[in-house]
Amino acid sequence: MTTQSHAIASDNHTYINQLSKHEGAEVVLKGWLYNMRSSGKILFPQLRDGTGIVQCVVLKNAISPELFEQLKGLGQESALVVKGTVRADSRAPGGYEIDVSNAEVLQEVHDYPITPKEHGTEFLMDHRHLWLRSRRQHAVLKVRHTVVQAVRNFFDDDGFTLCDAPIFTPAACEGTTTLFEVDYFEGEKAYLTQSGQLYNEANAAAFGKVYCFGPTFRAEKSKTRRHLTEFWMVEPEMAYATLEDVMSLSERMLAYIAVQVLEKRSEELKVLERDTSKLEAIVAPFPRVHYDEAVKMLQEGFEKGALESKFEWGGDFGAPDETYISSQFDRPVMVHHYPAAVKAFYMARDPERPELALGVDVLAPEGYGEVIGGGERAASLEFIKEQIALHELPQEAFEWYLDLRRYGSVPHGGFGMGIERCTAWMCGIEHIRETIPFPRMLYRIRP
Ligand code: 4AD
Ligand code: MG
Repeated sequence: MTTQSHAIASDNHTYINQLSKHEGAEVVLKGWLYNMRSSGKILFPQLRDGTGIVQCVVLKNAISPELFEQLKGLGQESALVVKGTVRADSRAPGGYEIDVSNAEVLQEVHDYPITPKEHGTEFLMDHRHLWLRSRRQHAVLKVRHTVVQAVRNFFDDDGFTLCDAPIFTPAACEGTTTLFEVDYFEGEKAYLTQSGQLYNEANAAAFGKVYCFGPTFRAEKSKTRRHLTEFWMVEPEMAYATLEDVMSLSERMLAYIAVQVLEKRSEELKVLERDTSKLEAIVAPFPRVHYDEAVKMLQEGFEKGALESKFEWGGDFGAPDETYISSQFDRPVMVHHYPAAVKAFYMARDPERPELALGVDVLAPEGYGEVIGGGERAASLEFIKEQIALHELPQEAFEWYLDLRRYGSVPHGGFGMGIERCTAWMCGIEHIRETIPFPRMLYRIRP
């Protein structure tokens, strides 16, 4: 129990990342106990408040004996408010320490499940709601925030209008094999969106340059380190744009994101032990590689023994293929002109070689693989109708989309970037499940 004189929890408080503004002053900090060291008459509780971690110093004779005993026994993640003076200390991680004059315990905790010892991934994923508090997860999600912020600033400053797309949709955008079906009303089926692109195309004809940014869903039966069933995608779309415009927008955006992450998240990149030279190398222009050329590269790789199987022209790249192609370059690489057969129905074709789609995938280095997919869209009504039939899509669900080819159809294009793949790459982490607060995967919808 705390006594009245200790009640400081209702005082105005300062955040740990603002301590430099309060050097020498008395502040109240509100947070949770991250760690506790003690040496007889002195306690060194480390307090975290979401903005940072600071070491506090509690001298036995500075507070009441009862409070000293209570603090001494606190376990990790106890809810704790401290009052004390901010002292600069060049040896302290954030540059400051707090000389505590008072404290209040809001909740004592003694059995926090995540301890400094190593835990298995399954255990940590089961405790994701708590795992988020750890230093590394915190760093990853701060980087994610900066990626999102950079993306928004980039498009907003470049004259794009935010036009979000619906999540319940009547038809597939990216092939029927990864659709999540839901019961809509009165027996009607709906699907969770795989991509906002088709709606973006309508928006682009209305606003010129648009982007949508929201959750997208894929019933991916693959259990890889790059696949989630629910992920966030940013998708720009531009009227009067070609494949070349889409490629130059992609490289400009990625270079901008890298600069922002380097500038704003240097502390977090340190926590993650990220080799920042890899991010400094994300500079436009990126190499552009025709699919034919990429196939040659893969076949040479096979002959050199760097790949297990011989890649045949016409196929889509697997993860090892993407990794091999990107290993040939020092920055992201844009592979374009894929065979139309491996791409979605809406892709425009190369007029010289109609079997090729005017599509591009941006492959990130270090094995991160495809982070962006996009290209130029087919503008011809007849062609799109044919493709809808060929892909066995229900034409009635696409009538509105066909209208875009009936009324003022122009060359246009755009791309989609998965926020989680981009964040994993920026952070240099193994698996994208750590880049979203609560990941959804083939075998996981909890917590
Ligand atoms: O290549 P995708 O499927 O392209 C589209 O959906 C287009 N309609 C986008 C557009 O042109 N507007 O997906 C785009 C990106 C991928 O490059 C990848 O970054 C991410 O979305 N992505 C996934 N991220 C996590 N988990 C998954 N299952 C993903 N599938 C795609
Ligand atoms: Mg793709």
